[in-house]
Amino acid sequence: MQELIKRAFEAQQKAYAPYSGFQVGAALLCEDGEIYGGCNIENASYGASNCAERTAFFRAVFDGKRKFRAIAIVGKPVKAESFDYCAPCGICRQVMAEFCDPESFEIILPRTETDYKVYKLKELLPLSFTASDME
Ligand code: THU
Repeated sequence: MQELIKRAFEAQQKAYAPYSGFQVGAALLCEDGEIYGGCNIENASYGASNCAERTAFFRAVFDGKRKFRAIAIVGKPVKAESFDYCAPCGICRQVMAEFCDPESFEIILPRTETDYKVYKLKELLPLSFTASDME
């Protein structure tokens, strides 16, 4: 837990967010214990921007990872001195639903390295649409 949170804060330092000024970092824990960092990467064409969580997932999936245990997410405006809880957006929750067990996958929202909230994916994305809905 402590390592995952530390890695999310490190990832947040790498954010490319010149338009919103809101810098986000994520650290994704794979089932095999490996951790992937991700940051938000914005674009002059705003819709082309990518969230920190999806950066972490897409890096991991490209490396062949398919099973995940938890993600820690931190974000704040560049000028803010302290962090508040940064909940994942709806698109990122949907990406989590593609790869993660809603009953066990944990979403960790730290304000500091020791002050954090933990949610299960099913709490943040109830009644989700997944592959099984198309069977
Ligand atoms: N953002 C994330 O990276 N993750 C979140 O969970 C919330 C929002 C990014 C998207 C955009 O670059 C900036 O934060 C402001 O919305």
